[in-house]
Amino acid sequence: MTRQPKVPKAVFPVAGLGTRFLPATKSVPKELLPLVDRPLIQYAIDEARAAGIEEFIFVTARGKSALEDYLDHAPQLSATLRLGNKTSLLAELERTWMPTGAVAYARQDEPRGLGHAVWCARHLIGNTAFAVILPDDVIAGPTPCLQQMVEAYAECGGNVVAAMEVAPDMVGSYGILDAETGQGRLGAVKGMIEKPSPENAPSNLAVVGRYILDPAVLDHLSQQSVGAGGEIQLTDAIAAEIGRSSVYGFRFDGRRYDCGSKAGYLRAMVAFALERPDLRDDFEACLASVVQPQVAAQ
Ligand code: G1P
Repeated sequence: MTRQPKVPKAVFPVAGLGTRFLPATKSVPKELLPLVDRPLIQYAIDEARAAGIEEFIFVTARGKSALEDYLDHAPQLSATLRLGNKTSLLAELERTWMPTGAVAYARQDEPRGLGHAVWCARHLIGNTAFAVILPDDVIAGPTPCLQQMVEAYAECGGNVVAAMEVAPDMVGSYGILDAETGQGRLGAVKGMIEKPSPENAPSNLAVVGRYILDPAVLDHLSQQSVGAGGEIQLTDAIAAEIGRSSVYGFRFDGRRYDCGSKAGYLRAMVAFALERPDLRDDFEACLASVVQPQVAAQ
C-alpha cells in the first residue's frame, strides 16, 4: 500500500452556544470549562499536537473571544510568575503556548450546523487532508486518539472517522455507521446517517468527534444541503464521499467522555482528578466522604 501524506491541519469547531451549560456559558465559552485545571480546548490541542498537527484552525462565533485570549501568549502573567519564582506554574503556562503563526480563526456567522462550521474554514484548509476535533468529546487512553487515527490513515488514506459502540437507545444522538467489521480497528463504511431513529439505524456504531477528511468533503459541504435537525451535517458530506474515495470507521483504543452533557462532564472531571498523582489521595477521600453518607441514607 502507498503511504499517504500526513495530516498537517486540524479544525476545531468552537462556535456552539453551549446552552446545556447555561448560565456558566453566558460569558465563558464551553470549551474553556475546565477538567480539573485544564480547559476542554487544551485537551483537544494537546491531542492534535501529539498527532503531528502543525496548523490549528478554530471556527469561532460572537461571544467566543475569550478563547482567542486563552490561545495567546501571556507575557505579563509570565513575567509576574517569573518574578515570584513560580517556576512550575510558569512551565505549565508556557506549555499551553501555541507556536507563533500556527493558529488561525474562521468565523461561523450563523449557527447552521457542524458541516457548515467546517465549511466556514474551507479557505484556511485549502487542498490538504485535514482533521476535525470536537472538543466536547474528550478521549483518554494510552495513545492519543487522533495519533492512532493518523497512524491508521498513513496506511489506508481516504477518510477516517473515530467510532465506538453506543447503547441502542442512544443512536439518535450520533452519526451512525453502516460499516464492515473484522478488519481489526478499521472497517470500511458503506453508509452513514446523522441522528437516525432506532428503527432506521444501520448499527449502533457511532461516530465520535475525531475525523480525518479528504478536502473533497468540502465540495460536498458547498452544496449546503440541509439534513437532520435542519442543519448542514458533516456526516452527510462524508456519506456523499463514499464510493468516490474510501471512508473508514476506526475503533479507537481509549475512553471517551461526552463533555457536552452535564453527566459526562462531571464523570470526566472525577476520572481526570483521580488520575492526577497530586490530587488522587485527597480527592478519593473527599469523594468517599460525599458518596458514602448518601449511599447509607438510601
Ligand atoms: C456531532 C456529529 C455526530 C457525532 C457527534 C459526536 O453531533 O454531528 O455525527 O456522532 O458529534 O459527539 P453533536 O453532538 O454536535 O450533536
